[in-house]
Amino acid sequence: MKIIHISDLHFPTHLPLFSLRGKSVIGYLNYSLRRRKKYPMKLVETLISTIQDLEYDALVISGDITNVSHESEFIRAKKILSPVLNEKAFLIPGNHDRYKKESLKPESLFEKHFGDYLGESLSSSYYLRRKEIAGQSFIGWDSNQPLPIAKANGYVPLEVIGETFEKQKKDYVLVCHHPLWNPKGQEESSGHKMSNRADVAKSLNSQPPSLYLHGHTHTNWIKKPGNLMPFYIVNSASSTRLSDSGHECGFHLIEKDNNGQYSFKRYIYLKNKNEFKESPLVFLDEENGVV
Ligand SMILES: [Fe+2]
Ligand SMILES: [Fe+2]
Repeated sequence: MKIIHISDLHFPTHLPLFSLRGKSVIGYLNYSLRRRKKYPMKLVETLISTIQDLEYDALVISGDITNVSHESEFIRAKKILSPVLNEKAFLIPGNHDRYKKESLKPESLFEKHFGDYLGESLSSSYYLRRKEIAGQSFIGWDSNQPLPIAKANGYVPLEVIGETFEKQKKDYVLVCHHPLWNPKGQEESSGHKMSNRADVAKSLNSQPPSLYLHGHTHTNWIKKPGNLMPFYIVNSASSTRLSDSGHECGFHLIEKDNNGQYSFKRYIYLKNKNEFKESPLVFLDEENGVV
């Protein structure tokens, strides 16, 4: 079983200012001035063609496909991703895909445009979805909600964990946008992290996944199974951002053998060659980080 995990695609966009309101105006200006240059379209195109050339069973995208949840961003993102949107794809939303209240009401734009790739809904009260791909269960959570400007916290109601355990009896891969753990020195600010992640990490222990896939913090790492969380945690954000001194970006190819053992490869974009190249893993012990 081979899984490609990409995240935080933040596809480059140009939006007319008159089409934006409230938080989106500041968010979009901030994006245009500070972040757009870091997400060249050339890199996006190379990522898609690299995925098409790789052999894999499942493609997981762990959120932040858009920047300010403008409907045109969802339409464009779906078009860009169309070569790899098929029965192998499993997506969840990130905080940028739930950027403002209008992205959820009157209808949820993420579900409207990507509904075919989110799996079946398992709960009548919460976002809890499952997709079976090549005999492996993938569970999707939504840790996001529209928040005031400069806030990007996540939150997972503990009821979602209870329902996950009730509905999912065999091994599963859990996909959620926010990290449960950060390496020391890369701790998230109080306005950026999943606010109840210590409780989530503790609750998962009674029926843990074999793998937790996330994004949100734009640099890659893999946490090995530890005492607190006996499973791998993989961060593949951002797969479309140019690397710099503070962000080592790329994606992971994860292989699960017939004994349930995982192995990993990481690919990083080389700007001068316009290609993704296999690169050393950032493979960390649980003790070298914080929940
Ligand atoms: Fe992101
Ligand atoms: Fe995010």
